[in-house]
Amino acid sequence: MNAIYESDRLLAEYLLFHYGTADEILPPDRCWPAGMADALNFPTRTAACFSAGVVHRGLDLGCAVGRSTFELARTCEHVTGLDFSQSFIHAAETLRHGQPLDYERLDEGAQRTRLQARPPAGIPAERLKFLQGDAMNLPPELGSFDRVHAANLLCRLREPTRLLDRLPALVAAGGELVLATPCTWLEEFTPPENWPPHSTFEWLQASLTPVFSLLRRTEEPFLIRETARKFQWTTALVTVWRKR
Ligand SMILES: C[S@@+](CC[C@H](N)C(=O)[O-])C[C@H]1O[C@@H](n2cnc3c(N)ncnc32)[C@H](O)[C@@H]1O
Repeated sequence: MNAIYESDRLLAEYLLFHYGTADEILPPDRCWPAGMADALNFPTRTAACFSAGVVHRGLDLGCAVGRSTFELARTCEHVTGLDFSQSFIHAAETLRHGQPLDYERLDEGAQRTRLQARPPAGIPAERLKFLQGDAMNLPPELGSFDRVHAANLLCRLREPTRLLDRLPALVAAGGELVLATPCTWLEEFTPPENWPPHSTFEWLQASLTPVFSLLRRTEEPFLIRETARKFQWTTALVTVWRKR
């Protein structure tokens, strides 16, 4: 498993990505190219891709520091956020306990700005649970869920088909699945023999359509700030499925 997600640098980047305000990510003293602001709030936007209504159980796979898990808890009575990174799960748990988290935003060189991540308002902590675990080897006792969300996880797995094969049992009948992926297949995470043979969308369709119906297909941009002048602007393929 790739250790990059245990590093302090990635922890700070993801705390800013998930909990940073627009002004903290794109300070207003600079003029930013059109479209950058549209790429903010990705973890909130993907969690909002499910159909309207309140459900019982939700699961957020590869939840990182947990922002989508918090957002899912607005309409799921119980939500589990699961990630392989101990460091990310520790941060998400601290926020679940209502405690703010201090971190440093890298600006340039050794210059950093102290910031604080705070738990989103209006979400009862008792609805949330965070677990360290492997999305390719989920314990059977997890059971099934009315909503399963996995954002930007598939192309970070060594064997993504192990998760795809598990999805029919993980999603309850009539339940929904949101998969977001930038389709950035990289050898450092996934051996090429495990990449989709054609487009990622065709690969998902072939794997999921025997059990799931495709409800929607969209693109959602996201912005990860590395330094004051270096950002990753990426667009994720987002598909929403219902288990028949
Ligand atoms: C690109 S990040 C996306 C995080 C978050 N969902 C988001 O959209 O911001 C990939 C996440 O997947 C997690 N991850 C990688 N391999 C995993 C695995 N086998 N099981 C669970 N989580 C994993 C990483 O620790 C990281 O938090």
